[in-house]
Amino acid sequence: MLSKYIIQGGREINGVIRIGGAKNSVLPIFAATILSGRKSIIHDCPILKDVEIMIDILKVLGCSVKREGHTVIIDTSGYIEYEVPDILVRKMRSSIVLLGALISRVKKAKICFPGGCDIGPRPIDLHLKGLEQLGVKINESHGTIYCEASDLKGADIHLDYPSVGATENILLASVFAKGTTTIRNAAKEPEIGDLQNFLNIIGAKVSGAGTNNIRVEGVKSLNDGEHTIIPDRIVAGTYMAAAASTGGNLELQNINVEHMQPIIAKLKEMGCDIYFKDGSMHITSPKRLRAVDIVRTLPYPGFPTDMQAPIVALLSKAKGTSIMIETVFENRFKHVEDLICMGANIKVDGRIAIIRGRSRLTGANVTARDLRGGAALVLAGLSAEGTTVLDAVEHIDRGYEDIHLHLQQLGADIVRI
Ligand code: EPZ
Repeated sequence: MLSKYIIQGGREINGVIRIGGAKNSVLPIFAATILSGRKSIIHDCPILKDVEIMIDILKVLGCSVKREGHTVIIDTSGYIEYEVPDILVRKMRSSIVLLGALISRVKKAKICFPGGCDIGPRPIDLHLKGLEQLGVKINESHGTIYCEASDLKGADIHLDYPSVGATENILLASVFAKGTTTIRNAAKEPEIGDLQNFLNIIGAKVSGAGTNNIRVEGVKSLNDGEHTIIPDRIVAGTYMAAAASTGGNLELQNINVEHMQPIIAKLKEMGCDIYFKDGSMHITSPKRLRAVDIVRTLPYPGFPTDMQAPIVALLSKAKGTSIMIETVFENRFKHVEDLICMGANIKVDGRIAIIRGRSRLTGANVTARDLRGGAALVLAGLSAEGTTVLDAVEHIDRGYEDIHLHLQQLGADIVRI
């Protein structure tokens, strides 16, 4: 049964919210706990569908996992299976990051191709090319990938594209590799830095995360570790956009300002005032936002593709015309058709969307088609006139913990049925 949100628009989003740990950091770090064969205690793990699926996979592989609120205790000292169940891989394609972890721990892995998802074909060619350079033997047949690695040797790997997942998989597969591994043109997202920090806490030797080149010195074994996940910059950006879409004022706690810079710059350009005081970030928004000439999504530290849909929702009501260019994923404008139902004036041509801001959007019956597109429709509903009924909100549960409850506390009229 698909749940819905019913949103009465026109209420300002005001108040204080604490931002939780980053989904896209928890997932690779949970995979990394497999390497140590010891106990890891991870704090600030958000309660999200994708995180619970990763916990299910760890349990099926033989790990013992206990959740105590937002802390998750993972013991990987037992026998670890090398085969990842298809049904769980298909539920969450980012489980592909287990490949590198299993290769390091049990020297083999079996996983089905994760396949495409709502936003594009999501190939893994860069993952496999990098793993082969580390000495992994890879066979693919009938949609399944079989990996064997009797002895992993450090390599000098250049990524054709700074892929987040490929960087993470190669990093995890190189921790025990003999000698030095260099990953060039590596992804620089903050979640890579968090993974590096966790790996070093348990005894790995990784440096350079956040720069173009990551270096790994192979080690023999790892230890217990305890780590707190970095705040989720996309969840923070989404709540900032919720305030901005309703002319509200919001205080956000537990923020890493550095990670927020591309999002802060764009919201300031649209007319918001953003400042940092006593460890919190504050955003005050104008009654009506300004359009921006061009927004181009890029690998970090460029403007994040995960904020593209929320920003398109804001620009739909801004004063003037904006152009959004989605350079990262092939098919990430699924939310546009629903925004048009709400009165937006948007033309999409491939990776380009031309958004002519309207003074008002009106509530309508719309459907979430992917995680961030669904969040964008919530933002549009908050600022639209009248009632918005948003279907298939399970998509949103994948990346936002109880978003409707938090928005209610911040003044929104939103219920989940
Ligand atoms: C991660 O996905 C995130 N997911 C995504 O967040 C995020 O949008 C993306 O990075 C970009 O920042 C997680 O961290 C779990 P990529 P990932 O590999 O690793 C192409 C969300 O909403 N590519 O950097 O899959 C690929 O097709 C999700 O939280 C290849 O061609 O992203 C895409 O066009 C959505 N070959 C581009 O690179 C490869 O081998 C970026 O993909 C790998 C990727």
